[in-house]
Formats: sequence, structure tokens, C-alpha cells
Amino acid sequence: MQYILGIESTCDETAAAIIDINANIISQITVSQQSNHALYGGVVPELASRMHLQNIESVLNKLFKESNKIGLSDISAVACSTQPGLIGGILVGSNFAKSLAVSLSIPFISVDHLEAHLFMPFMFYEINFPTLAILISGGHCQIAYIRNFEQIDLLGNTLDDSIGETFDKVAQMLNISYPGGPLIEKYALLGNEDCYKFPLPLTYGKNLNNQNFSFSGLKTAVKIQINSLKNNGNLSDFDRNNICASFQKTILNILKHKIDLALENYPFVKNIVISGGVASNKYLRQSLSNYFNNLEIYYPPIEFCTDNGVMIAFAGLLKFKKQISYSIDCMIKSTSNLF
Ligand code: KG4
Ligand code: ZN
Repeated sequence: MQYILGIESTCDETAAAIIDINANIISQITVSQQSNHALYGGVVPELASRMHLQNIESVLNKLFKESNKIGLSDISAVACSTQPGLIGGILVGSNFAKSLAVSLSIPFISVDHLEAHLFMPFMFYEINFPTLAILISGGHCQIAYIRNFEQIDLLGNTLDDSIGETFDKVAQMLNISYPGGPLIEKYALLGNEDCYKFPLPLTYGKNLNNQNFSFSGLKTAVKIQINSLKNNGNLSDFDRNNICASFQKTILNILKHKIDLALENYPFVKNIVISGGVASNKYLRQSLSNYFNNLEIYYPPIEFCTDNGVMIAFAGLLKFKKQISYSIDCMIKSTSNLF
């Protein structure tokens, strides 16, 4: 049996996984730095690099301890995310991965973090090409048309903030700790989603057919609403819950609009894959599946929406099967190669 090792260190998770050639998960470890960054309301790049350096050896040791006697000598290739992300973290993970590949005389496989997120649902489900893909993560918000694993056309990108970042910034305005997404989802359950009408940027007027995303105006509108509530007294839990629910519904409506638009241009598409950290939001998952009920929507299992080593190992496996490997001096980058 052949095994692929995947290493992830582009943001605030130091993660690694071993999967076999049939994409079965052998073991996986994710060490999150979220509590270290929460103090600052977001990821501090230098702190992230140092924490990756501190964590990576123990993550790998633990991974092999829990791997059911699969050892380093059983690994056939080492995959690692080499872009996009925080360069200090990528440097730590990729140097570790490259050194392992050299010392074991096995291929090194460079993985783009975005392709790893996008392909994650394919590990769990039989999905026919072509498909639409929506990547909604902490660093990205993109809609793409996937012809196959090698041919991906970008249809729309965010012009400013990513969608996860917008969740995190709105959370910060409400004094909700980082990362804000999961708590906004929780408080939204207690609120009235029709309480406030927030704008849906780039969805009407001359932008009716614009496939790009923009979230900065929405963020400002939420901020203005919060300030006006604060000016009228303390922001109560009731207000906070209503803001969370109304904001989340706005995000849903923006996603619906952009997916509808893409489907107008690709009416023959029957599948949509939705991945990235924000795809772990159960309200969005359920609402989008209900709304697009004539299509199959595939999400990764919730635990594989946020950054993890399995997604890197799986994207690596797809390349390994096609005998694609990379020179040990291949570049690392803060931006994506994908689009
Ligand atoms: O994919 P990811 O781990 O990191 C990047 O590649 O950027 O995504 C992290 C993002 C954070 O912004 C976090 O707030 C958001 O995913 N997130 C959520 C939820 N869980 C995580 N956003 C909304 N609802 C959630 N349940
Ligand atoms: Zn990610």
C-alpha cells in the first residue's frame, strides 16, 4: 500500500495527515493557534510563523504515533501547501516537507491551498465534472467553473474582503472573539434575520450581472447599525443576535445571487461544490441546499471545511496518481497559482 503525507501551515493551523492511495484517512492532526491570535482580534503573521515552528515537529511526531504503525519509510510522497498564505508559515511547513522528501528520496508535491479546499468534497463523494465551485474561506471568496482537476476557470473573485474575514470583522464589532464565524452562527439562531436590511453589494443596478464579490460596504452598513444601537444605549444580547441573524441572511442572499448568475451562464451544470471554513456554517449549508434543490450541492464534512492536513494530502494524491512532482527548489508564494 502507498501512503501520502500532507502538511498545512499557510495560516493559523499547523496540520498534517496521512492518507492511503485509495484516499482513506490513516491519521490526522490539526493544532489550531486561534486562542493565541484571539487576543489581537485576528491572525498576527509573525506570531503564526513562530507557532508553526514551535508546533510542527510535535504535530508530525503525534501523527506517526497515531498512524497504526505506518512509519516514515512507508510514505510515498510528501505534499505541502506552498501558496497562497502567510509566507512565514508556508516557509516553515514547506521546508519541513521538502527536507523530509529529500531525506526519504521520495517526491515532493506542491499544493495550492485553494485547490486543496476546492477538491475536498471530491474525496468524500462521486462528483461528475463539470461543476461549479464556491470557495468561502477566511482568506478567499471565489466562484469557479471546474472542467476537471486541471482546468479551472475563475468566474468571480472578491474585490476587497474575503467572506470569512467579513464574519470575523463583524464579530469584532460585536465584541465576539476570533474567529467570529462559529459564534455569529450560534447567536444568529437566537435572532430575527429580518430585523435589519443590509445592502447586498454588487448584486443590483449596473452590477446585476457582476460575478465578483464585495463585502466592505456590507461591513460598513453593519458598523453603522451597531453604532446607532450603541448611541441609543447599550448594545443588548437581543440586538447582537438580531445583527448576527440579519448579517448571516445577507451573506446567504449574496451567495444565492452569485450562484444563480453562474447557473444562468452554465445552465447544464448539475453539481456545485462549496468549501472553505465558512462552508461549515450549517445555516448556509441548509439554506443553499434548500434553495438550489434541483442541483446536487456537495460540502466537505464539517470538520474538513476549515484548514486541515487531509485536504493537502488529497490534493497531493491527485497529482501523485498523475505522476506530477515538483523540484525541491520550487518557489513558495503568498498568492495563488490557481487562477
Ligand atoms: O478555510 P479557513 O480555515 O481558512 C482559510 O483558508 O482562510 O477558514 C477560516 C474562516 C474564518 O474566517 C472563520 O470565521 C470562518 O472560516 N468560519 C465560519 C464558521 N466556521 C469558520 N464562518 C461562518 N460560520 C461558521 N460556522
Ligand atoms: Zn484555508
